[in-house]
Formats: sequence, structure tokens, C-alpha cells
Amino acid sequence: MNNLKTGIAVIGCGSAVPQNQLTNEHLSQIVETSDDWISSRTGMKNRCISSETESLSQLSAVAAKNALDMAGIAASDVDLIILATSTSDDLFGSASKVQHLLGATKAAAFDLTAACSGFVFALITAAQYIRTGMYYNVVVIGADVLSRWVDWSDRSTCVLFGDGAGAVVCQGTTDRDRLIAGAMYSDGSQNNCLNLLYESQSQSLVEDITVQSGTYQPITMNGKEVYRFAVAKVPESLEKAMFQAGITSEDIDWLLLHQANQRIMDAVAKRLKLPAEKVLSKIADYGNTSAASIPLTLDAAVREGKVKPGDTIAASGFGAGLTWSSAIFKWGQF
Ligand code: UT7
Repeated sequence: MNNLKTGIAVIGCGSAVPQNQLTNEHLSQIVETSDDWISSRTGMKNRCISSETESLSQLSAVAAKNALDMAGIAASDVDLIILATSTSDDLFGSASKVQHLLGATKAAAFDLTAACSGFVFALITAAQYIRTGMYYNVVVIGADVLSRWVDWSDRSTCVLFGDGAGAVVCQGTTDRDRLIAGAMYSDGSQNNCLNLLYESQSQSLVEDITVQSGTYQPITMNGKEVYRFAVAKVPESLEKAMFQAGITSEDIDWLLLHQANQRIMDAVAKRLKLPAEKVLSKIADYGNTSAASIPLTLDAAVREGKVKPGDTIAASGFGAGLTWSSAIFKWGQF
């Protein structure tokens, strides 16, 4: 406990993607689709796909290391690692493996699962630990390797997903809190719209006792319903966050949404009256990387020099659960 009743600053970011690139042309060799359909309906051109030597833990550790380097913080000074993922290498969690790979020996580490909303859920969760003074340096990672769980014969989903990891470093500050608003939401009544379900078969052990043994089944999605949900809930939650922060959309420098569909990002920007130049998008390069998409996109924009210290970012994640979450924060050390 550092007893610093503080705010949170987001002071470093990093990312990592697998080497192999899967293009729209490649996908059109696998299922009946085309570059034209995929790009016009989603904005995607390419995605990165993990090979057998690239694990979720490794990608996460590289992203976190890059974020720590930018923040100028040693791994040994990290207090907590939160790994937002739905595709852990190990159902018991992969955060401890990441802690070990990073050499963050004093850090506690745990996984958090909220699908494509996971990164913003984890950022808000990290802020609670920092604000109470329990932890000072917290690494928040969003990482997924959904390619493991894609049905490569289903053209309605297999063209969408890619793999990757992104991370930010959050630190306590006695100065103003830079996470100026944030909230998390869930609606389990729509749970069946997007799933990666466990399916089992009964196996009799002894009389009257059976166990259920099975595995997870590939992703299924009702794309239209999820689209409708996203374009309704994301602007609403961002408007609430702006109200909470006491700002208007004119004060927003960048809109940083989960990268599920360029058309969703454009529709949200339009509803919030934000010009297209303020929408951060890497969907063409990476596709939908689930929990990784927001920190991956942030990292690219920071390293390209687009996002500058002090800029106000409105971020929103949405997806399976269904879950959604918005946060407004000021980027960087300034
Ligand atoms: O990350 C979690 C959150 N996920 C999302 O937010 C995803 C939200 N949903 C979406 O982004 C869109 O619904 C999709 C991109 C998934 C689909 O776009 P759509 O405009 O809603 O297409 P659709 O599902 O209504 O399909 C339109 C047509 C259908 O053909 P018919 O029935 O009109 O003849 C589909 O069979 O497009 C067909 N289709 C395809 N055609 C070529 C579906 N997938 C493909 C494909 N290539 N890959």
C-alpha cells in the first residue's frame, strides 16, 4: 500500500502482433468471399495470425515490455498486471506466465474476461486499485488469439478476427486524475448473440454420477444484432461519460473504439458529431483483435506521432456478454 490517495495517469503503451499476415485474398481462397465484400462491409484488409510458436502469453509480455520501456519503468517496479483476454493459453489464467516472462517479480497478476470490452474493463479496474492507494504501477494488457477459435469454414465470422496484444502502463499521480470518466455495462439477456461456448458429453463415472467432458466450440455470432447493439449502446455510454467528465464532443481529440467494423466506428463518430479525422483506426491492418484492438490502435497512433501527451481520448469497447464500456482519459506524461 502506498497510501497515495491519487489519480491515475496512462504513461506508456506497447503492442505486439504475430508475424503471419492473412489477407482478404487469402481468405477468398478459403471461403466464398472477396476483398470487395470484406473491405466494403468491415474496412478490413489484413489480420495477423499466430503460429504454433507464438502464444498469447508471449505476445502479451512483448506488448507489456514495450509499454514499460516507453513509460521508463522497470519490470521489477510493477505492482499489478491485469491481462484482459478471452483466449488464455491456460484456463487457469495466463497473467502469471506473463508476469514471469516480463520479470515483474513483485507484481500480482490476474486475468480478466470481458471479451472485446476487456481492455476498457481492465483499465477501469486498474484505476480502482491505484485510486485506493493499494498499487502504484499497474500494467493493463488486452490480448487475444481468436484465430484458435474461428470456424474457418464460416465466412460470416472467419474474415473478421485477427490476433495481437496491446498494453498500457498506469501509474498513481498526486496531480489531477487523467482517467476523467468511465463506466462498465453488461446485458446477459443478449448473451446468445456472440459465443465461444463450452460443449460437453456426459461420461458415467459410477452409478448416478456423470461428469461432463468436452471443449470449447468455434465462435458463433449474430452479426446484425451485435451491430445494432453496438451503434446504440456505444454512443449512449460515451455521451454519459462525457457528461460525467463535464466535457462535450468538441473537447475530444480522438475517438478510440474497439475495432470491430469501420462502419460502426463511422456511425458512432457521426452520432457524436466527431469528424472522421478524429477516429483512430487500424482495422485495415489488424482486423478485429478483440481485447487487444484498443491498446493496439492506441500504440500505433502514439508511435506515429498522432496522439500527443495531454490529448483527450474517448475509448469504448463492446462485444460478447454482451458487454460494453467507455472511458475518457488524457494520454501520456505531460
Ligand atoms: O468484436 C465483437 C463485436 N462484433 C461486432 O461488433 C460485429 C458486428 N457486426 C458486423 O460488423 C456485421 O454484421 C458483419 C460485418 C459481421 C456482417 O455484415 P452485414 O452487413 O451485417 O452482413 P450480413 O450478415 O447481413 O450478410 C449480408 C450478406 C448475406 O448474404 P445474403 O443472405 O444477403 O445473400 C451473407 O451471407 O453477405 C453474406 N456474407 C458474405 N458474403 C461474402 C456474409 N459474410 C460474407 C463474406 N463474404 N465474408
